[in-house]
Amino acid sequence: MNINRAEFISSSPSVAACPKEAIPEYAFIGRSNVGKSSLINMLVGRKRLARTSSTPGKTRLINHYRINGEWLLADLPGYGYARVSKKERDRLARMIREYVTLRPNLACLFVLVDARIPPQQIDLEFIGWLGEKRVPFVLVLTKADKVSQGEKAGNVKLLKQELSRQWEELPLIIESSAVKGAGRDEIIGFISDTNKKLVRG
Ligand code: GTP
Ligand code: MG
Repeated sequence: MNINRAEFISSSPSVAACPKEAIPEYAFIGRSNVGKSSLINMLVGRKRLARTSSTPGKTRLINHYRINGEWLLADLPGYGYARVSKKERDRLARMIREYVTLRPNLACLFVLVDARIPPQQIDLEFIGWLGEKRVPFVLVLTKADKVSQGEKAGNVKLLKQELSRQWEELPLIIESSAVKGAGRDEIIGFISDTNKKLVRG
């Protein structure tokens, strides 16, 4: 699939305020600073469509983008950022959970985890919760350019071990680098296939 058009639609403070569109939506979720906004820019081939920052906690609203006029990308705030007040952290956590459970056109979530570090409790808890809610998701290991093959393989192995405790079948795992463009074809291919399946019903 070629991406010919990528338009910003809106920034919403709650799921109720999100744009009412009846086309498939793909959302990017994960810890603060994991690289959600950077990955969206890499996928659509635009440097500054989604705002990124080296300081965690940049994205505080749900940002929607329309791609090729046919499907949507949603950039969500990160979860678990320690340096905001507990009240703000709880608000963001509630917003993310409401979005995931209530967004009617959500086709699939991309849950981003950092390829450089072993599985984090907060990610495993979030993934476990998705299982309980039966929300379809794909795992994306970000910043693959910043870690050695050996270390990455070790982290992937640990992640799979942890996931095997919760799941009989492992989810799809894709490695990505916003800097090198790694993972782009696989993610866009997955979205394209899912869109086709949804149209066929
Ligand atoms: P919040 O909106 O704060 O939750 O963060 P985010 O998950 O949207 O992260 P963002 O895309 O803003 O990226 C955070 C930092 O990581 C930035 O300094 C990016 O340049 C850097 N970064 C993101 N992805 C990659 C990657 O694949 N490789 C490298 N080397 N750096 C990356
Ligand atoms: Mg962001």
